[in-house]
Amino acid sequence: MRPVRTIALTGATGFIGGVFLRHLLGQGYRVRALSRRPREPVDGVEWIPGSLEDDAALAALVAGADAVVHCAGAVRGASAESFVRTNVDGSRRLVEAARAGGQCGRFLLISSLAARHPELSWYAASKREAERVVAEAAGDMALTVFRPTAVYGPGDRELRPLFEWLLRGWLFIPGSASGRVSFIHVDDLAAAVTCWLAASEPLSGVFELHDGRPGGYDWLAIGAAAEQARRGPVRRVVIPPGLLTAVAHINLALSRLFGGAPMLTPVKLRELRHPDWSCNNSALERVMDWTPRLQLAQALQERRF
Ligand SMILES: NC(=O)c1ccc[n+]([C@@H]2O[C@H](COP(=O)([O-])OP(=O)(O)OC[C@H]3O[C@@H](n4cnc5c(N)ncnc54)[C@H](OP(=O)(O)O)[C@@H]3O)[C@@H](O)[C@H]2O)c1
Repeated sequence: MRPVRTIALTGATGFIGGVFLRHLLGQGYRVRALSRRPREPVDGVEWIPGSLEDDAALAALVAGADAVVHCAGAVRGASAESFVRTNVDGSRRLVEAARAGGQCGRFLLISSLAARHPELSWYAASKREAERVVAEAAGDMALTVFRPTAVYGPGDRELRPLFEWLLRGWLFIPGSASGRVSFIHVDDLAAAVTCWLAASEPLSGVFELHDGRPGGYDWLAIGAAAEQARRGPVRRVVIPPGLLTAVAHINLALSRLFGGAPMLTPVKLRELRHPDWSCNNSALERVMDWTPRLQLAQALQERRF
């Protein structure tokens, strides 16, 4: 297998893909990155204008690439169709382009832990279906699927408010007070990607990724991590379920009237309220020399979000 030098990257203009881009450049890879908007030049990056809906752009993106890291995705939306268009149809087009290009030996799909429960939300269903169609279209190209849990780090807008309030001494609990969640810092996820690229033989399979804390965190443990980080007490406030439901309905109605892609919708709430989003790294750690380095208390203490 020829060494991996040139990477086709999608999602580089977003939170996670932007961090991947910096890590890839730091490791000396040449990157061809898809972008829907004009970008400033960056050393080592060839910006390919276009989107996941544009076959010509995808062919240009993968031309000469040894590996594809597919991180673009819709994470918010007001209908099932909007998620399917980007996450399912877009992923299928990209893998077909990579296969037709003939040079690409490995393909990494950044899916989500949400794919474990496709019945819960439009997003979760689209990520699971993307995994299926990509596997169907990959042919003999080695395919790896990463299912990260909730990702945080600089540039993230979803978890940042929760962490800011934690450091001020307030924990707002949005789901069931007994739920379990896991997290992963974006630098640990990016390190897993560069490790995957460095493997002499490409890996195949579906792998969950989190920060390595067994069983994840319940809300008590999140509060405790914050108390450790701020060396002071954290007060816990459960957001009444009816209030969240009302906000989710209003969000959806407003987006249908005025456009836009809301994060919190009634369907998304089912995903947030699921009692167990803990996960397990052991399958990945068995096949790759990767271990996450950062857990929540330290990340909060060092304000790495
Ligand atoms: N954040 C998390 O906690 C988390 C957890 C597990 C998995 N993931 C997965 O990680 C990936 C990145 O998530 P993120 O949090 O970084 O989201 P994000 O900040 O919203 O970034 C999404 C990226 O995808 C691009 N994109 C969206 N639709 C596209 C299309 N039709 N054509 C081309 N590019 C398109 C966006 O481009 P523009 O800049 O042009 O909008 C952006 O670069 C997603 O696949 C998501 O499912 C995220």
